[in-house]
Amino acid sequence: MKTIDDLIGQGQVAGKRVFVRADLNVPLAGATITDDGRIRAAVPTITRLAEAGAKVIVASHLGRPKGEPDPQFSLAPVAARLGELLGKDVAFAADTVGDSARATVAGLADGQVALLENLRFNAGETAKDDAERGAFADELAALADTYVGDGFGAVHRKHASVYDLPARLPHAAGGLIATEVGVLRKLTEDVTRPYAVVLGGSKVSDKLGVIDHLLEKADRILVGGGMVFTFLKAQGHEVGKSLLQEDQLPVVREYLARAEARGVEFVLPVDVVGATGFPDLKTLAPSSPVTAAVDAIPGDLIGLDIGPESRKLFAAKLADAATVFWNGPMGVFEHPDYADGTRAVAQALIDSPAFTVVGGGDSAAAVRILGFDENAFGHISTGGGASLEYLEGKTLPGLAALEG
Ligand code: 3PG
Repeated sequence: MKTIDDLIGQGQVAGKRVFVRADLNVPLAGATITDDGRIRAAVPTITRLAEAGAKVIVASHLGRPKGEPDPQFSLAPVAARLGELLGKDVAFAADTVGDSARATVAGLADGQVALLENLRFNAGETAKDDAERGAFADELAALADTYVGDGFGAVHRKHASVYDLPARLPHAAGGLIATEVGVLRKLTEDVTRPYAVVLGGSKVSDKLGVIDHLLEKADRILVGGGMVFTFLKAQGHEVGKSLLQEDQLPVVREYLARAEARGVEFVLPVDVVGATGFPDLKTLAPSSPVTAAVDAIPGDLIGLDIGPESRKLFAAKLADAATVFWNGPMGVFEHPDYADGTRAVAQALIDSPAFTVVGGGDSAAAVRILGFDENAFGHISTGGGASLEYLEGKTLPGLAALEG
């Protein structure tokens, strides 16, 4: 994969219009950005290009609008925050390839930065049809001279700005993608052992591919979050009213058997914290949490976090690891009554001398929302789905396009 330095050396940056496909898909509450991690992660590449004399055109998606403008998914608040972080004005185009985008780009001087409106306001961005995507990529290509792919969180998407556009312009990977891929290689190729993987999140069906692949790579797999109840049920426990994916029981049983045959240790919680109702995540009103051993979960309990004994067990299982990958919260960490499991795993990663990687999405947001120092982890990925698909061994369209 070519780098920005290669492009600079080839005269493709200074004085040129450089299109940077970033992933600025940040969580919003109204117009307030609740976690700006992805914007901060995009800054070094944008700064580098601006300092090298590019007219920088930044583009991203935000949320999942339906192929037409939808104000609740506007990138306008992101433009303001990006400007603060860059310490310079960011011109905001009110469309993607229309009059506003063309005028905004035409108005850029060398070293200046613009952000286009949400790419997914145009149906061509996510179209399944190659020709429709290609037509949108042609319009984007007309805005720029050079392409830099740096939206790691979106490289698993075969979308126009990720997959089709690089083929139309001189292209290279930005610094964020280079860093993320370097880290993921350490989790798949050059692994220092023991290698422990912690998986959480609500649905086991979202993690099947990665478990399947990591059963061949990891030494130890720790499971928490809503998905754990399908594992506990597969082991013969009753799980009350907890989240259960009955249809996944056969595959989970097969994983447990395969792990045993391969000598991979599956670590499941020994106790859980739950309640008889789901906690109110808007008001965060105190609930009535109950702790139960996994072999005595009451019939009316909804499991919402791993319990205190499990927190100790998980910390012990991570203490002597040399490499740790963590994806997915251990419980409903957004509510203080059910955040301790996620907090304990984050702390165990911090305390461990291992090379630690936090997979993006909810787990990355959780460590920031719970107030942990990001620098205490080896690496916090900006890609949730993207890092999981990489670890599943899949070919990621956005990376393949940059190789070409
Ligand atoms: C993410 O949040 O994982 C990326 O920004 C990709 O978003 P998507 O799942 O809507 O394609």
